[in-house]
Amino acid sequence: MRQRLLSEGARELSYEIREIVKKAEQLKKLGIDISWENIGDPIQKNHKLPDWIKDIIADLVRRDDTYSYCPSKGILETREFLARQTNAMGGVQITPDDICFFNGLGDAIAKVYQYITHTSRVIGPSPAYSTHSSAEAAHANHEPLTYRLDPDNHWYPDLDDLYNKVKYNPNVVGILIINPDNPTGMVYPLETLKRIVEIAREFGLFLVADEIYLNITYNGARAYSLAEIIEDVPGISMKGISKELPWPGARCGWVEYYNRDKDEDFNRFCQALDNAKMIEVCSTKLPQLAIPKILGDPRFREYREETNQNIGRRSRIIADILHSIPELTFNETFGAFYNTIIFRDGVLKSDQKIHIGNPAVRTLVEGWTQENIALDKRFVYYLLAAKGVCVVPISSFCSELQGFRVTLLEEDEATLVRTFEAIRDGIKEYIHS
Ligand SMILES: Cc1ncc(COP(=O)(O)O)c(C=O)c1O
Repeated sequence: MRQRLLSEGARELSYEIREIVKKAEQLKKLGIDISWENIGDPIQKNHKLPDWIKDIIADLVRRDDTYSYCPSKGILETREFLARQTNAMGGVQITPDDICFFNGLGDAIAKVYQYITHTSRVIGPSPAYSTHSSAEAAHANHEPLTYRLDPDNHWYPDLDDLYNKVKYNPNVVGILIINPDNPTGMVYPLETLKRIVEIAREFGLFLVADEIYLNITYNGARAYSLAEIIEDVPGISMKGISKELPWPGARCGWVEYYNRDKDEDFNRFCQALDNAKMIEVCSTKLPQLAIPKILGDPRFREYREETNQNIGRRSRIIADILHSIPELTFNETFGAFYNTIIFRDGVLKSDQKIHIGNPAVRTLVEGWTQENIALDKRFVYYLLAAKGVCVVPISSFCSELQGFRVTLLEEDEATLVRTFEAIRDGIKEYIHS
């Protein structure tokens, strides 16, 4: 090429949640039955939407106006509905003009970081959900900037680490919170969130809260929304229907701008995000039409509560199976539908194995693990090949910890138990080999 084609930041783009699938597919060809624990898609794990939800969508599909473009920021009635929901929480107040729709929250995440000045940084949690960390790092041409989530303190943010990194890095303009969190499944206490707001206020930062799991909490937990705690600090809440409905294939998410009037620079940034969407014309319309009809239906709360209870039950089953392995740091989860399980320091070594009977499978895995790869990735490959369970190594979530992420989505309880017993047996065999 006459000039260099690829930006430096493109190096930061990786998504192990889908990369691992390529390995699993190779094993499938060799006859291994795979249990997919890598991706947070309830539908892929056999969750069925209730018929009343499907009926609403089917009615919309029959209407001619469903097929046209819609306003760039999204359908006004839907934004009015969502603004009412946020305002009813009694915190920050917004208008429909403070909401903009995107093609899935992934699209919103990419745009938010894209339009921040290259030298300015948004610090995010580690382990990090890679859609955020990769997009932020790619915009900055630099590795992700993170604060620690502490596995020895319920995976809550290490607030001293956050404070110090913000204080001593003047390039930090924003703090990302994911609550409830992916990949840890943790729900943050009110005091923790309030402290993060204080830090943002002290240093003149804006907050980004990914709240795609806001209404997925269980076993007594309740997630506080950014709207409830932000007071006068500028912020962006990110929401969507991929998890709560769940309808990930709809590619529909939205952002809510809080306190635009408190900071002109922030206000211009929000305007730029709206303009970016305008250039694209608009986002997916069908799910926007469906949102007020489904989320506003009294049956939705009941359905969500029942679905959450099921996730909560699975969280306990998984805890029962895995919490007593002394070589692991295990935290029971209270939100979203993941758990991140950590091997204690020094437990993983580069010569451990799980027995693999099939010689072709064994050769394949030995090939994958020949290179110098992260020790948790090595474990994940052996677990995949020997037990057919596909999890994601936590080192690929911008973390120095060694571990793996599982989902809490398996609807069939017998399969769930079988899968997690296989994980437990795989861990024991691997670390004692
Ligand atoms: C924390 C978080 N944010 C955003 C997304 C992306 O959501 P969407 O399907 O709306 O792009 C996910 C998907 O797993 C997620 O876990």
